[in-house]
Amino acid sequence: MQNSFVEINEVGLRDGLQNQSRPISTADKLKLAEKLIQADIKFIEATSFVHPKAVPQMADALAVLAGLPALTPENDVLYTALVPNMKGYENALANKVKSIAIVLATTDSFNEKNLNMSLAKTRQVCAELISTAKKDGIKVRTYISGACACPYDGKQEATLVKSLVDEMLSFGSDEISIADTTGAGSPAQIHEIFSLLLKDHPVEKFNVHFHDTRGQALAMSWAALRMGLRKFDSSIAGLGGCPFAPGAKGNVATEDLVYMLHSSGFKTGIDFEKLIEAVAMAETITQSKLGGKIMSWVKTQQEKGRSLGI
Ligand code: COA
Ligand code: ZN
Repeated sequence: MQNSFVEINEVGLRDGLQNQSRPISTADKLKLAEKLIQADIKFIEATSFVHPKAVPQMADALAVLAGLPALTPENDVLYTALVPNMKGYENALANKVKSIAIVLATTDSFNEKNLNMSLAKTRQVCAELISTAKKDGIKVRTYISGACACPYDGKQEATLVKSLVDEMLSFGSDEISIADTTGAGSPAQIHEIFSLLLKDHPVEKFNVHFHDTRGQALAMSWAALRMGLRKFDSSIAGLGGCPFAPGAKGNVATEDLVYMLHSSGFKTGIDFEKLIEAVAMAETITQSKLGGKIMSWVKTQQEKGRSLGI
C-alpha cells in the first residue's frame, strides 16, 4: 500500500489527564510517559502551560517536562506542550519546549469558556503565538477545537472551519488539528470538512483529533484515512475529555486506532503488545477501569496465552 505510514500523536498525558477528578502525581505521569516511549510512540503531547486554577491537573507542567526521558538518537520523541497564550508560551520556551499546540475554538462561547477570550481575540492571540514561535524556530500545531460542533452552540459549518484554517495557515502554523472536541461529529462530516480543506491545502498540513463520546471516533478516523490523512491524535486507554466542554468523553483509544491501522495494512512503528502494557499502567495510575473497544479481545487472548499477533 502506498503512503501507508501513519503518525500517532499520543495526547493522553495532556488531554487525557487534564480531566481526571483525582490528582495524578508527576511521578505517575512520568511512568506512563516511559511506557508509551517503550511502545515506540514518537509524538507525545506531554502537558500544558495553562492557569493552574483553570486546570489543576496540569499545574506540574514544569516538573513533567523536566522529568521526561531525555532525547537521544534512540529516543527521538517530539514532546509538545499546549499553550493558550503568550504567558504559557514564555513558560514553555523557558523549559526548552520545541513544539507547541495552540487552541482556537470555532465560536465565541467556546473560546470564552475555555480561554476567557472572544473568538476575535483568540484569533489575534494565535496570530501572535504563531509568528513568535516561527521566529524562535518552534513547531506550531493549531487545534481548531469544536470543529464539528461547539458544546454550547451546536453543529458548526465546514465553511467556518475552512476560514479559520486558511487564516492560521496564512500566519504560518505548521500543522492544523481538526478537533471534534465533544465527539459529536460523523464520518460524513469529516468527509465534508476535508473535501473543502484539501481543495486549497496539502493533506500533510493536517492532523485529526477525535473524541469517542458517541462511539464514532474510529469510523471518523477511517473516513479521514480515506481522505488521505496520515496524522492522528489518540489517547492511551481512551483517557480524556475537556473540562470546558460538558459531556465530552475521552479521545479515541490509541490501542483501538493502532489495531485498526495495523490490521488494515498501515504502519505506525508502534509495538502493540507494549502499548497494551501502557493501557494497564493508565488504569493503575487513574485507579479507574479504562481501555478501548479492543481490550476485551486482548484480555481473552492473554487469558488463553495466545499472541496478539499484530
Ligand atoms: N499560565 C499560568 N498563569 C497564567 C497564564 C498561563 N498560561 N496566563 C495568564 N496567567 C495568569 C496571569 O499572569 C495572571 O496572574 P495574576 O493574577 O497573578 O496577575 C492571571 O493568570 C490572570 O491573567 P489573564 O490573562 O487575565 O488570564 P485569564 O484569567 O483570562 O485566564 C487562561 C486565561 C487562558 C490563562 C485560562 O483561561 C486558562 O488557563 N485556560 C486553559 C484552558 C485549557 O487548558 N483548556 C483545555 C485545553 S484546550
Ligand atoms: Zn481533545
